Amino acid sequence: KPKHLVIAIDGPAGAGKSTVAQIVAQRLGYTYIDTGAMYRAVAWESIHRGLSSCDSGGIASIAKNINLKLSYVNGMTNVTINGLDVTDAIRTPEVSKTVSSVAQIPALRQVMLKMQRDMASSGGVVMDGRDIGTHVLPGADIKVFLTASIKERAKRRWEELSDKGFDVDLSQLESEIASRDKQDCEREAAPLVKAPDAIPIDTTNLSIDEAVQQILCLCEEKMNVS
Ligand code: CDP
Ligand code: CDP
Repeated sequence: KPKHLVIAIDGPAGAGKSTVAQIVAQRLGYTYIDTGAMYRAVAWESIHRGLSSCDSGGIASIAKNINLKLSYVNGMTNVTINGLDVTDAIRTPEVSKTVSSVAQIPALRQVMLKMQRDMASSGGVVMDGRDIGTHVLPGADIKVFLTASIKERAKRRWEELSDKGFDVDLSQLESEIASRDKQDCEREAAPLVKAPDAIPIDTTNLSIDEAVQQILCLCEEKMNVS
């Protein structure tokens, strides 16, 4: 009897969460939910409206009131806010620099938590982020904590940005990622931390396919015992 698992994947920036989570979801016929894209969308909207990242009330109210839609086209998370396509806009270095400050706001995280639990409520989902296994879906069937060395993660992000035509300095990108990781790990509300029952997978020397296979194995084991 097939069981619709709930799979939580957390880890720092550039570990491969979205890439791997998406493929796992596709292989299992599950829904993939990119919670980072949700925080990025709120960060973009707050920049767009000229709000300071300290304006917690304003930012939480953005999250409550924007009509945020995620869809998946050709292995890409497409995001719209009130019908406006912000898929590329939420990935710019400007948004990457602000998003972790916005994501610290407890009132915003509260709104997101509810939306994310609703999205996962029927099961058969792979959700990735920072606090999925610890806060959003603490009862997930499978929890994975994906990591890779900071050098490798910066290199991956640099390659992605270069492909998109952004001219960024590798060492500057590395320090920006390190500072975002630090902010994410040290914040009060739902920090980035490995859940005690999460399985760590270090992808520094793994291909995308190897990481996917490891997670699919965990899923198979789980389906066989339950
Ligand atoms: O793709 P990348 O790893 O660069 O980041 P992301 O997954 O798009 O997430 C962007 C930011 O959103 C993170 O650095 C966190 O500050 C925040 N975030 C969060 O706080 N909680 C989540 N569940 C997901 C993302
Ligand atoms: O979501 P997260 O920030 O953790 O990572 P991502 O957005 O999936 O980006 C990871 C990048 O590294 C992508 O360009 C992948 O093609 C590449 N990559 C990977 O994800 N996993 C590997 N084992 C090797 C490379």
